[in-house]
Amino acid sequence: MAVAFRKLHPHFVAEVMALDLRGINDRRALDEIRGGMDEYAVLVFRDQSFTDREQLEFAQRFDGALHIKTGAAVLAKSRFDNEALTDISNLDERGEILKPDDRRRMYSLGNRLWHTDASFQDPPGRYSMLSARVVPPVAADTEFADMRAAYDALDAGIKATLEDLSAHHSIAYSRQILGFEFSEEEREKLKGAVHPLVRTNPRTQRRSLYLASHASRIIGWPVPEGRLLLRDLTEHATQPQFVYRHAWRGGELVIWDNRATMHRGRPFDDGQHRRELRRVTTLDIDSPAAA
Ligand SMILES: [Fe+2]
Repeated sequence: MAVAFRKLHPHFVAEVMALDLRGINDRRALDEIRGGMDEYAVLVFRDQSFTDREQLEFAQRFDGALHIKTGAAVLAKSRFDNEALTDISNLDERGEILKPDDRRRMYSLGNRLWHTDASFQDPPGRYSMLSARVVPPVAADTEFADMRAAYDALDAGIKATLEDLSAHHSIAYSRQILGFEFSEEEREKLKGAVHPLVRTNPRTQRRSLYLASHASRIIGWPVPEGRLLLRDLTEHATQPQFVYRHAWRGGELVIWDNRATMHRGRPFDDGQHRRELRRVTTLDIDSPAAA
């Protein structure tokens, strides 16, 4: 059975038609979905009723090893008892809506800054797979920006400047922008990582800007100058023509390529409405998908 894609934005993002990922096992179908990720960078699958276990199993079938060193894992133990399953919700361990001043809520508000998952780790995240379990009755959208189209649109002089530059990424830095402080002990576990500012997809050779709110400085540059460059590039890359806004429906799974996109959650009344999603992210290392 051929996998069918319907493009949702002029540059990127496609809906994958009528496919139950829980039953997808064969190499050909998985390869076609990987091909779709190469082309569209964000894929939307409707009506996927994943259990936690099924979501974890699919992620491994699709792309290999899973990320377990998330920032949230440093803050509090996962309520699912599995650090590969990231809790993207406004709920505490009893399933109650978090209080406005709960530390976990304040930490998660950082997801409203443009970022790419786990760039503050080495290896960083490759594919993130977010499953919508409980969607509020009000808009609680996620925006995605195409870092390949943003790179392509830069002029040749800027592209030449960016060649060979690297940035240091730190979640302590990005959370601090919003006034959230980790303890010294937490900071010890979150030292950050250095990654190239421009990345090349090894399968397609397509280049993309690799940016995130976590990017704290350019290696070898004075800190203020590096931060200004990062700010300019982020402004450029998140202009409306590069951005797709996703309105979630219950049961959806969205997969995005963290090497080729940034994303951010948009505000909603999270003291009033429950919102419950689960994220699994794969490690950006060689894997069957990269071969
Ligand atoms: Fe994220």
